[in-house]
Amino acid sequence: MPKVVVVGSINMDLVAQAGRFPAPGETLSGERFVTCPGGKGANQAVAASRLGAQVVMVGAVGNDAFGRELVDGLDREGVVTRHVKVVDDIATGVALITVAGGENTIVVIPGANHTLTPADVEAAEADIASADVVLTQLEVPLATVEATAALAEKHGVPLILNPAPAIKLPAELLARASLLTPNEHELAIVLDQPDTPFPDLLAQLPGKVVMTRGEHGAYHVDTAGAFYHQPGCKVDAIDTTGAGDTFNAALAAHLQQGLKPAMHAAAAAAALSVTRFGAQGGMPTVGELATFLAEQTA
Ligand code: RIB
Repeated sequence: MPKVVVVGSINMDLVAQAGRFPAPGETLSGERFVTCPGGKGANQAVAASRLGAQVVMVGAVGNDAFGRELVDGLDREGVVTRHVKVVDDIATGVALITVAGGENTIVVIPGANHTLTPADVEAAEADIASADVVLTQLEVPLATVEATAALAEKHGVPLILNPAPAIKLPAELLARASLLTPNEHELAIVLDQPDTPFPDLLAQLPGKVVMTRGEHGAYHVDTAGAFYHQPGCKVDAIDTTGAGDTFNAALAAHLQQGLKPAMHAAAAAAALSVTRFGAQGGMPTVGELATFLAEQTA
């Protein structure tokens, strides 16, 4: 059972489902509304826990109903929440999500997530030191992500950085990450090379990037310069929210088995995650993933 420490965001997702996306300035009648737990950090924590990892979450919520509900939910999923702080006077992060035709648009209001400091991560140093993998994203302050990377490096623990939402990454952070997991669009932003084809971008960071590309799967260029493609799995997509988070969690949970087996498990877990509604709704358990992988090879 690998130990995974996740440093990241915790949001309540306010999700409207509609037949299509509204145009700017348009009012559209939707089909249903639900609130469900989300946030890239919390999603990755829950997905890793369902896949059998021992997960410690470092994050922040507001002292409000959403915050309490989200921490309770993480507890129920078996995620250790002793490093999730509760802050007064700032609301829990929320994400306004529209789902239409299996695709989504998301606006995130970070709220309490932006109060997560380097000191909060340093308070979790003992957990980071004993982790097999540290997993983080960019929905908490960059200084906090940088402190996470410094601690992971100090203790020789591999760091997976999911650079979402994407920014051009500082060179030191790029160097400290063991693996970056952008999608195609994010990779171009991270390297600030908007017009370069993704195979050329991957070749610039050999051994460093696992790039996701939705239903097409994931891509990697190894340290020897060899190009590797992990195909995606064909499924009927209901809601793609959280698919990238599931991919990252599965990659972290399986990393000790080697990168290619981890990419295979991650592609399958991500495919399963889109077959149900909500960011965390379709995240598979160990058993569900094993059954799906067996069906794929049968
Ligand atoms: O990756 C999906 C997540 O992004 C959603 O759950 C939402 O909260 C945003 O953080």
